[in-house]
Amino acid sequence: MKNSEVTKILVSEDEVREIVGRLGKEISESYGELDRELMVIGLLRGSFIFMADLIRVIDTPLVVDFMTVSSYGDGTVSSGDVKVVMDLDSSVEGRDVLLVEDIVDTGRTFSKVVRMMKNRNPKSLKICTFLNKPEARIADIDIDFCGIDIPNEFAVGYGLDYAQGYRNLPYVGVLEL
Ligand code: PRP
Repeated sequence: MKNSEVTKILVSEDEVREIVGRLGKEISESYGELDRELMVIGLLRGSFIFMADLIRVIDTPLVVDFMTVSSYGDGTVSSGDVKVVMDLDSSVEGRDVLLVEDIVDTGRTFSKVVRMMKNRNPKSLKICTFLNKPEARIADIDIDFCGIDIPNEFAVGYGLDYAQGYRNLPYVGVLEL
């Protein structure tokens, strides 16, 4: 796997910084003063880089937790069979929860996770994604904080993978498969 297989840059490093900064401001303003810390939940593995950057530009006191879900396996098409591979360590009951994703594609992953979270009775539940692919949507979901819409192409980098590779690219690009 070589970076040269990335044929087009969708979101440059500068744009990544700008988008993350804007989302941090939006999120901080939206939560304002909370009685307890905001609970920021990252869906692994794709969100780990975005999550690390995002929490450093949110000025609301927060705690983090992670859940591993998988829908793509090593392929490029969402299977629709969303599996919880590793659940949260802590309870979300009565907490203000912000779910963080790297990308909403078909929407199946988020819609399943949102349903699951609502059943656990958080005080509030909002969702944030770095990338959004509206043309690929199958499951309808409301995104509270959205980084940037991208076309229906296979994106890699900034946490997003193809066969587990390319996650470390500091930008988002399109892969020629
Ligand atoms: C990717 C991505 C989202 C999901 C989005 O996860 O991180 O979780 O697909 O697709 P959807 O909107 O069509 O459900 P993947 O299953 O590839 O695992 P990963 O997070 O380990 O990359």
